[in-house]
Amino acid sequence: MKPNTTTTPPTSPAASLTEAEILDWLHEEDPANLEELWARADAVRKAHVGDEVHLRGLLEISNHCIRRCGYCGLRADNHRVERYRMTEAEVMACAAEAVAYGYGTVVMQSGEDYGIQTDWLANIIRRIKTETPLAVTLSMGERPDEDLEAWREAGADRYLLRFETSNRALYRMIHPDARGKVSDRFAILARLRELGYEVGSGVMIGIPGQSYATLAHDIHLFRSLDLDMVGVGPYIGHPETPLGKGEWSARLPEGEQVPNTELMTYKVVALTRIVCPEANIPSTTALATLNRDQGREQGLTRGANVIMPNITPMHYRTRYEIYPAKVCLQETGPAFYRNIQDRIRSIGRRPGEGQGNRIRGRT
Ligand code: 5AD
Repeated sequence: MKPNTTTTPPTSPAASLTEAEILDWLHEEDPANLEELWARADAVRKAHVGDEVHLRGLLEISNHCIRRCGYCGLRADNHRVERYRMTEAEVMACAAEAVAYGYGTVVMQSGEDYGIQTDWLANIIRRIKTETPLAVTLSMGERPDEDLEAWREAGADRYLLRFETSNRALYRMIHPDARGKVSDRFAILARLRELGYEVGSGVMIGIPGQSYATLAHDIHLFRSLDLDMVGVGPYIGHPETPLGKGEWSARLPEGEQVPNTELMTYKVVALTRIVCPEANIPSTTALATLNRDQGREQGLTRGANVIMPNITPMHYRTRYEIYPAKVCLQETGPAFYRNIQDRIRSIGRRPGEGQGNRIRGRT
């Protein structure tokens, strides 16, 4: 297993930002100044992770969830969701498809579903790692240590767990505890690191009750956590959730609420690149949902270096509705894959080869 390295990355002073500077950038509205931000993020991206755009096939293996997050359409009490759990054979067929498309990684994601048993998933991980060249990323929620250990032992390479917001009060409101345990995602991220996973986290942008100061602190934290992967995307209201219905929202004083806009998302992607020069940063589906035509490309030219095409079979994909109108519902099959490749080349980049791990100390 890979040794666990916890050293902070070498970063030139020019590439770092203080929390106050991050906050100023979040408030910046002048297009000329923002051009400077995009250019700086793009230069840092090029210097540290190069022109490759890594493709990760996203496989949504189950939409069962025991949690009651205020923002997510898969929350346990949304009874309108028709629940599914993929079979081993289905997962393996999708992994083969990811290989055929030339993707370097399969990302298996689900709600927090204890119907996904430790050994069942460990066996699938082992099979993918022995039968394919894929890296395996997991995004299964706040599972107990024993599960994280078993899956790492089985060969899983990476784990994604967004901390969503660093504001304790807001987090507790939108993310109620479950199974009698206080949710501490930072403790889980530390544990994942100890186990030798590449660790990914991130936040939603524009959660009702999220202030500029909180978001600046979140971005600053990405750096202190030395994250290998950072996923950020706009919060998109889901009508079957308390936040989407406006029931739970904490109103902030005028001017303090972060908007869940495309522009704000680009700012956060760019700032994330500057504070985490070596991280793998996706241009997310949520961003593409706000701007179907150009969202992904713009994300890639403002700091991002990863795209996560959805490879979930269509009859399941429509039921994995974290937020409404996910753009990936139109994105399917070999035609979409070729289209993604063309779009990457059209902005002067190239599809990544190999697994696309974090590379330390390249410059
Ligand atoms: N809008 C945007 N992103 C969402 N997520 C969950 N619900 C929403 C929503 N309504 C994000 C969370 C979670 C990731 C898998 O999806 O950040 O960590």
